[in-house]
Amino acid sequence: MDTLGKTITCRAAIAWETNSLAIEEVQVEPPKAGEVRIKLTSTGICNTDDHAMKGILPMPFPFIPGHEGAGIVESIGTEVSSVKPGDKVLTIAIPQCRECNSCLHVKGTFCEKQDILPCSGLMMDGTRRFTCKGKKIYHSFRTSTFTEYTVVPEFTVAKIDDAAPMDKICLMSCSVPTGYGAAVNSAKVTPGSICVVFGLGGIGSAIVMGCKASGASRIIGVDINEEKFPRARALGVTDCLNPQNLKKPVQQVIKEMTVVGVDFAFEAVGLPDTMLAAWDSCNLSYGVCLIVGLAPPNTKLCLGAQKITPGRTLKGVCIGDYKTRDCIPQLVTCYLQNKINIDLLATHQLPFDQIHKAFELYHAGKVIRCILLF
Ligand code: APR
Ligand code: ZN
Repeated sequence: MDTLGKTITCRAAIAWETNSLAIEEVQVEPPKAGEVRIKLTSTGICNTDDHAMKGILPMPFPFIPGHEGAGIVESIGTEVSSVKPGDKVLTIAIPQCRECNSCLHVKGTFCEKQDILPCSGLMMDGTRRFTCKGKKIYHSFRTSTFTEYTVVPEFTVAKIDDAAPMDKICLMSCSVPTGYGAAVNSAKVTPGSICVVFGLGGIGSAIVMGCKASGASRIIGVDINEEKFPRARALGVTDCLNPQNLKKPVQQVIKEMTVVGVDFAFEAVGLPDTMLAAWDSCNLSYGVCLIVGLAPPNTKLCLGAQKITPGRTLKGVCIGDYKTRDCIPQLVTCYLQNKINIDLLATHQLPFDQIHKAFELYHAGKVIRCILLF
């Protein structure tokens, strides 16, 4: 290949400072040892990218955002053994290095080599592969997918089935395993159970899909944007609630609707108030509350301490508690076998150069997921 070993000049979206994203010409260096250079085919836009660009999640600027990417391996550095040029891959922000304490533990899924909490914006050797106008640009979450080419560590790359459709499979990199996995893998939602999902965006919608696939008999959806309700119903939500239109706190309404409280409550907003409401919606004895949303830094969750004793479970969950590089390729295969339908989540697609329009649609709450195509 004529790009092998060379710096590639291509287009990328750079967040120069908070709330200032611009498409620029960038130089992308070849991968070093243990690294992979990927030609992106599509990328999702996720709430976490938005938070990073707004500075809600602390980031080193300027950086190239994006983590929910699908692409083709362009070249590999030395010591890379799990992928080769031409392979179809996904970039995974919660990686699986297979060496750290978390990866070696049977239940551990929060790989110590993740670079989100906190984000250094650097490769493992402390350097960067992107340059724009002579200035080095930071990476984000060791993924950076709002670019035609990216360089990432091998441990963030999952090789997927050659038959995967590269225009929407990017949702399998984050939204689907995060939401669907929270229901089927972390909570293990039981047939006939009652679930509530706070937040009916990309993640919440995937949670609803997982609850429905697990045979939940009732799925209550909570969102302050009622435009989300018709699509949520189509995915399996049986009752929709807008807390802003209720006379009582939403958790009280849910308790009254269900008499005993829900079996499973999922929070997919990322705010302490909705986390508390999810917790208080659960059955006191056997209810399980799963926190999927990422709260802003330094926020606190204040629980009535005595009400823990009856037995409720409060659990955090990140990418569906999957060992990502082992399990996400299997989810892709399930999709190809029509066992999971991600098409309902991919409501919009736009060419990469319309990234600002994609964010406008996202902020206006018009999309479940808008995918950018390269
Ligand atoms: N109560 C209920 N719903 C709310 C509230 C609220 N107070 N505030 C916002 N919402 C709704 C929004 O209207 C939107 O439909 O939450 C939804 C969030 O959806 P997205 O913006 O699409 O975010 P998503 O990508 O789904 O991520 C949700 O999960 O992984 C985390 O970091 C992510 O914390 C974020 C959360
Ligand atoms: Zn690890």
